[in-house]
Amino acid sequence: MIKIAPSLLAADFACLKDEIAKVEKADYLHIDVMDGQFVPNISFGPPVLAGAARVSPLPFDVHLMVEEPEWLIPRIFEAGLGKIDCITVHWEACRHVHRTLQVIRDLGVKAGVALNPATPISVLQYILPLVDRILVMTVNPGFGGQAFLSEVIPKIEDAVRMLAAADADCEIEVDGGIDLETAPLAVSVGARILVAGTAIFRAPDPQEAMESLRQLAS
Ligand code: DX5
Ligand code: ZN
Repeated sequence: MIKIAPSLLAADFACLKDEIAKVEKADYLHIDVMDGQFVPNISFGPPVLAGAARVSPLPFDVHLMVEEPEWLIPRIFEAGLGKIDCITVHWEACRHVHRTLQVIRDLGVKAGVALNPATPISVLQYILPLVDRILVMTVNPGFGGQAFLSEVIPKIEDAVRMLAAADADCEIEVDGGIDLETAPLAVSVGARILVAGTAIFRAPDPQEAMESLRQLAS
């Protein structure tokens, strides 16, 4: 079963409530938090997340593009008002990623690890018992609207192999440049959660765009 996670980053921030209403049939709302340090962009943080949580019925899939994010994790959890399904941190941004994952798990939510295009899947080998979701970045993080990097496809295949060998129960998510053309590629090699910003929020009909993505990918 494919899950669709529209990225709020691509929504029109001048009318966030209306934008959120357009995607209420999604599986998750993907929330991109950027700090201007780990990535060269700043998006939004707990106050905006709290506003979204008041109007969205969806579980939140939070993607932290934040350098050493441990301090932020409890604040995200509180701002999410019980809506947080998973908090994902970047492997490259955490010096002690094992401890960071424990901090997330101790809050009773799922813990995810995101990997930049250059980072191999093998960095997760010894921390797999703490990982609920692997977010394979299919663009360099920081901006919406970039082109899908097909060179990342073999990494998704590596992730599937590693999870099977370890008998690990872990979801594979892809993020960046996912559209009607690239979603089937990612799904065919094992991705099960599709993050899409531009392809959903900038489509004439976001609801229809989600359905097409779901059908094509299934
Ligand atoms: C990029 C973010 C993505 C972004 C995806 O750093 O993590 O979630 O919003 O946007 P699209 O789907 O437009 O590539
Ligand atoms: Zn993201």
